[in-house]
Amino acid sequence: MTTAGHDLKPVLVFDSGIGGLTVLREARVLMPERGFIYIADDAGFPYGGWEEQPLRERIVRLFGDLLERYDPEAVVVACNTAFTLAGTDLRHAFPDMRFIGTVPAIKPAAERTRSGLVSVLATPGTVKRAYTRDLIQSFASKCHVRLVGSENLARMAEAYIRGEAIPDEAVLAEISPCFVEKEGEKTDIVVLACTHYPFLANVFRRLAPWPVDWLDPAEAIARQARRLVPLVDGAEHPEGFDFAVFTSGKPDFSTRRLMQGFGLTMS
Ligand code: DGL
Repeated sequence: MTTAGHDLKPVLVFDSGIGGLTVLREARVLMPERGFIYIADDAGFPYGGWEEQPLRERIVRLFGDLLERYDPEAVVVACNTAFTLAGTDLRHAFPDMRFIGTVPAIKPAAERTRSGLVSVLATPGTVKRAYTRDLIQSFASKCHVRLVGSENLARMAEAYIRGEAIPDEAVLAEISPCFVEKEGEKTDIVVLACTHYPFLANVFRRLAPWPVDWLDPAEAIARQARRLVPLVDGAEHPEGFDFAVFTSGKPDFSTRRLMQGFGLTMS
């Protein structure tokens, strides 16, 4: 017997902008029976430059509204900048909700590197976090980890995915500090620790001074979400359900078109 998909609660995917779409596309593959609600806090974008306390308060307050309004089965916080700051607060504030977080993939990078030189490309916020330092201490103490906080890449990724041209030199200036040579060894892994960056991965590959593994955690996050969201036998995705909400209430034309391309209607 088939269970109608609309009987299942949706999964909420959250980011400051469009970066969470890189996680949404993987989550859909693994959870085809679920409806998804994509939330972009574009009124607060970019999160990377915010002071910690006001951003933490903003995120917890926002989730108070979102959880009440949409009553999801689970929430994927598809934003390193948000989750490394407010993940613990969210779990405390909403103990009945399942939160799947996004944190810099430092552990897998430390397991895979051959040269021992790993770089973490992230927003300035994520680079500053105690959470990120703790990950390095716990899982990568034997590696040389270079933290690279980029002021501009999240905006550039948004522009690029909307079809605007971004100059190679500008991208190169942001990624260059990731490439380290030390005692005859070279960086061999760059962790994409902002969900916006996988949209630029092909540009990064083309401009990189030497080939590296660009580590995108989207699939691992989706796998974790699948583990926490029960698979209901025979359930089917509700027809035309998935939609996106922008906190500004006024996403521009190219953003709307992008959302349509991802099969999301604008609420
Ligand atoms: N996509 C967000 C992340 O994963 C950050 C973008 C921003 O600066 O708002 O960190």
